[in-house]
Amino acid sequence: MAHRETDTESYHLRELSIANTPGHRSHVMPPVTNRHRHILDVGCGAGQTLIASKLAPGGVACGIDIDSDALSLGRRIDAKIHFVRASGEAIPFASDYFDLVVSRVALPMMNISRALAEMGRVLKDGGDLWVTLHPPSMAVKDLLGNLSRLELKGAAYRMAVLANGMALHFSGKQFRIPFSRIPYESCQTNRGVLKSLSRAGFEQMNIRRDNFFVVTAKKSKPTNGTPR
Ligand SMILES: C[S@@+](CC[C@H](N)C(=O)[O-])C[C@H]1O[C@@H](n2cnc3c(N)ncnc32)[C@H](O)[C@@H]1O
Repeated sequence: MAHRETDTESYHLRELSIANTPGHRSHVMPPVTNRHRHILDVGCGAGQTLIASKLAPGGVACGIDIDSDALSLGRRIDAKIHFVRASGEAIPFASDYFDLVVSRVALPMMNISRALAEMGRVLKDGGDLWVTLHPPSMAVKDLLGNLSRLELKGAAYRMAVLANGMALHFSGKQFRIPFSRIPYESCQTNRGVLKSLSRAGFEQMNIRRDNFFVVTAKKSKPTNGTPR
């Protein structure tokens, strides 16, 4: 158990260091502006993205994650952030509260349609979403790595992740991967994510694919006379 905690800590501390290093090749951060007073990070780990964003005083920063070890580490590093143990598919905050919801390398581990619906619910109308995703090429690379090391269980899992990405691409749905600790992991395609975002009530979607697969969108504002 202690060994797993150490692994968790070293991962999140390394990611915090990357988040604090703009020139690092793995550095990718949400653009936080002074319009963003209430910010939520879904799958926050130890809150590395929020911590490195150096948020102005007076705002509210919240992070949720299912990993209590990561949250404890975050609480030790930054006492101003509200860390709550919760899943992205059931966000324990009021509707229409946040100006910005971010999720860095965590949404691919969730049931995407449920998590996006929850992110949309807690965002204010016109609020901003910023997420990073995993392209199918990443799952293929992991699969080839598993096969080359003859890790058959790992290879079977990666094939399920790829199949989940294809299910998302063609039908907008995911299936539950049996016997997995992360039962809804998937990879994403442009089409799959755009479909999921529009179903969850987002608009002005934008996709950037370079070193990272970054997606931004806004929660749609209700049109006059159309109650939500
Ligand atoms: C790769 S880490 C990313 C952590 C952090 N966002 C970062 O950028 O370094 C993925 C995180 O997502 C969390 N996670 C996985 N499934 C989740 C879920 N269903 N709801 C909330 N968090 C989840 C994991 O516990 C883990 O801390």
